[in-house]
Amino acid sequence: MTTAEIITLPPERWPEAKYLRLEALREEPTAFASSYEDERAFSDDIWLARLKSAYERDKNMTFYAQLEGALVGMAGAGWSAKIKLRHVAEVYGVYVSPPMRGRGIAALLIRRLLEELQSLAQIEKASLTVNSESIAAVALYEKLGFEIVGAAKRELKVAGQYYHLHYMEHHFES
Ligand SMILES: CC(C)(COP(=O)(O)OP(=O)(O)OC[C@H]1O[C@@H](n2cnc3c(N)ncnc32)[C@H](O)[C@@H]1OP(=O)(O)O)[C@@H](O)C(=O)NCCC(=O)NCCS
Repeated sequence: MTTAEIITLPPERWPEAKYLRLEALREEPTAFASSYEDERAFSDDIWLARLKSAYERDKNMTFYAQLEGALVGMAGAGWSAKIKLRHVAEVYGVYVSPPMRGRGIAALLIRRLLEELQSLAQIEKASLTVNSESIAAVALYEKLGFEIVGAAKRELKVAGQYYHLHYMEHHFES
């Protein structure tokens, strides 16, 4: 089986990033706080700015999994410039296209993301929220060293149905 390559995406490849992100929001409405309806109306300038900011690591970064030239997965993280919060990175946008799942692609993405976050001197931990019903995602994060540290009840409301979130975090060794 060909192994996916983990890459950062130059800003000019924004249409591919847009395609994958909108696929994620459409395919997995209960996995993300943002919705397809929120983002499909974004202008080209917004997508370009998003890619540029991640590529330049301006308080965020995103990695993509590429297989035979096509994007099949992604994982991002952002951090604050605020003095009291800048040691925390928030992981978001973790997604692998359905036909490519179960091949270790998300694990590659998260491992790379954690390595790169850890290489930033100020970052001491990675945090995230995940739908408590997303069994695959919770298992993925636990496998990669995250632990559940809290919960938010009825935090997501999708098509009239409520979902609880787990708060999870991964502390880097100092
Ligand atoms: C969660 C997701 C990213 C996993 O992607 P993937 O590439 O299939 O995951 P991997 O193949 O790298 O699996 C890594 C680990 O995740 C866990 N995992 C993955 N799929 C699983 C499943 N269906 N059931 C249980 N555990 C699973 C396992 O611990 C696995 O390790 P193992 O193979 O040694 O058992 C993918 O299912 C997805 O995109 N889901 C929808 C979006 C989503 O929920 N994103 C998270 C938002 S917080």
